Amino acid sequence: MAEIAAEAPNSPEALESFRIKYLGSKGTVKALMEALRQVPNEQKREYGQLMNTLKQLAEDKYQALKTELDAQAELSAATQLDLSAPAEPLPIGSRHPVAVTMNRIVDIFSRMGFSVADGPEIEDDWHNFSAMNTPEDHPARDMQDTFYIVDVPKMLLRTHTSPVQARVMENRQPPIRIIAPGRVYRNETISTRSHCQFHQVEGLYIDENVSFADLKQTLLYFAQEMFGAPRIRLRPSFFPFTEPSAEMDIWLGTDTEKNYRLTKGTGWLEILGCGMVDPQVLENCGIDSTRYSGFAFGMGIERQALRLYEIGDIRLLFENDVRFLRQFASAM
Ligand code: DAH
Repeated sequence: MAEIAAEAPNSPEALESFRIKYLGSKGTVKALMEALRQVPNEQKREYGQLMNTLKQLAEDKYQALKTELDAQAELSAATQLDLSAPAEPLPIGSRHPVAVTMNRIVDIFSRMGFSVADGPEIEDDWHNFSAMNTPEDHPARDMQDTFYIVDVPKMLLRTHTSPVQARVMENRQPPIRIIAPGRVYRNETISTRSHCQFHQVEGLYIDENVSFADLKQTLLYFAQEMFGAPRIRLRPSFFPFTEPSAEMDIWLGTDTEKNYRLTKGTGWLEILGCGMVDPQVLENCGIDSTRYSGFAFGMGIERQALRLYEIGDIRLLFENDVRFLRQFASAM
């Protein structure tokens, strides 16, 4: 016993020798156990107990030393870590094509002096509809059905980014030149969008003597920067918050199958709605319509993303398949 206690193996090899020497199949403990047979019967009990204590001692010592040596091994593995070695590369993800497209649009308008404004996605009836000259029961509301907050009357998910116009005008006086990107919602089951959420960018410019020519030139510059100098056309349209109103198309042509499909065979792709801000909207938001005039426009992002990256199907944008999204890793 004293012999076991005196042992101090300090390496894995020495520990293994210790195990073989005392606990192995030819080890001391085993041999002494076998010797039990030769011990006279009346001493067997005492001998047996002694042997058990001895075996226990050897096993305990073995376990204790093993734990200690394992801990030492782990520690030295850690200290051998080369902290100056380059780290494993971490996947950092990539921007979504919709975000990239939105940033590009914002960038182009920033260069023309527009600054970014923001508004809530859970909007009230006033900003989303009434201030924008779409009072309750106005038929134009049917074009933009949405989701209402059940417990809070007159609160809804905004159907467009136009309410940001009202919020900005209520809070400051012209000159105003803002761009408002963000998420919008519509309750549309039969829609090419195939889901109820999409993205828009709104623009608003209010000052003295702003004319339709300013609107057209601004949008032409945007179309050239964004799509590389295609022709544009403005078609008369209707929006409750602008008068006159127009929709802008860009010319893609029909020479490729993709363009044929995207433009439904016409060669023209509709990009946005726009117009001169209706004087009633200015008055609703506390701006003197006899002194100031302005233009506004609103555009969907998804369709532009499809065009920009030549994506054939809008649903790909929201399936969250990383194999698809990874392709845009280098885009900003
Ligand atoms: N809010 C309109 C929509 O979602 C788009 C729009 C049209 C915005 C004309 C405007 C505008 O600011 O002047 O369909």
